Amino acid sequence: MSITFSQPFAEPKGSPIRELFPYLSLPGMISFAGGYPSPSLFDSEGLRDAAAEALTAGGVAFQYGSTEGDVSLREQLSALMAHRGLDCPSGRILVTTGSQQAFDIVVRVLMNRGDVAYVETPAYPATIQALALAGTRIVQVPVDSDGLNVATLEEMLRAACPKDRPKILYTVPTFSNPCGTRLSLDRRERLVQLALEFEFVIVEDDPYSELAFTDERLLPIYAVASRCVTPEQNPVVYLSSLSKTVAPALRIGWMVASPAVLRRSAIAKQTMDLCTSPVSQAIAASYLASGRYPATVASACAEYGRRMSTMATALQSHLGNRVQFDKPTGGMFLWGRMGDGIDPTRVFKEAVDLGVVYVPGHAFYASNPDANTFRFSYAAPDCKQIETGVARFAEALEKAGSALANSD
Ligand SMILES: Cc1ncc(COP(=O)(O)O)c(C=O)c1O
Repeated sequence: MSITFSQPFAEPKGSPIRELFPYLSLPGMISFAGGYPSPSLFDSEGLRDAAAEALTAGGVAFQYGSTEGDVSLREQLSALMAHRGLDCPSGRILVTTGSQQAFDIVVRVLMNRGDVAYVETPAYPATIQALALAGTRIVQVPVDSDGLNVATLEEMLRAACPKDRPKILYTVPTFSNPCGTRLSLDRRERLVQLALEFEFVIVEDDPYSELAFTDERLLPIYAVASRCVTPEQNPVVYLSSLSKTVAPALRIGWMVASPAVLRRSAIAKQTMDLCTSPVSQAIAASYLASGRYPATVASACAEYGRRMSTMATALQSHLGNRVQFDKPTGGMFLWGRMGDGIDPTRVFKEAVDLGVVYVPGHAFYASNPDANTFRFSYAAPDCKQIETGVARFAEALEKAGSALANSD
């Protein structure tokens, strides 16, 4: 029998990052590829205690839970949000199965086929994938070293005819994936004004803001907007996650949004998984209540800061001006560009042969990629592996360069 698939799944594209997985298990391979937290930073002892507590708490963790999420976890998340400068009662938080599910829900609830989504570009590939599967029209908005280029966005909005205006704009404003950049407060304020003027929803994806290497903190865009509008009128849907700070295996994400968006999102989630695993939620709630979270985040910031500096120094000393990059001030990613006149596909192949894998930049574009770009994650490899990996990458560039010269 031949199966007729639904239109989006007739010829679907898989995640370009997940397609790199087979390389990761090759012996001796150093990975700068996935946005994996460092296993050495998981607070195993704290998580073990939290799990023991969760599993002995009268069996509720083994039952179905409410779609909106466990009450005590939502209270803990509300306190965590307040610490980030975002005040919202626990009733305005929807717990999701990773923030990835939260984004999928937003797309379901807000986007019809053919609707326009503005996406900062380069962008987190799973966002592009979710929007493409939903049949939306993706319009790329450029970024610079301060994040989303809000002046260009404004020009685009003013030039667009009503049918081409966006319903949503997606951004990772704090330590972006893939660029590691941070949107300035001025730009956050202007972005909110534009959202209110042109009536689009800002999807603020924020898994990385606590992984800061400096003391400077910026308010989430949601909080910037709530200075001038009521929660009902807030144009921002805020998404976050415990994946990068506690453990991705918990699959705990959440959404903060207006009551109208939240109610519809809970209904969308009912058909996806009824509720996020109550076992995971109970472990997360116990862990956050244990008071260990701030120290865990502080050691992650210190270690990731060290690893980022090691990577930046190694790139500088091995490659000098043959690659350009900005040093990130937080998060997990360094975005770079190799000079023109080199074949990036060849560099990637040579790098894999030499034992280092990373994500080629084309994965982060919906169209017209700048193929000479690349994303390195410094989170999972230790400093020694980072130095070896960068040396291998430099050798790969050298080999690809001489192969090109020989073919001239
Ligand atoms: C920007 C961004 N959003 C969302 C996610 C998904 O995170 P989660 O594990 O919470 O689903 C990631 C994971 O890499 C990410 O980088």
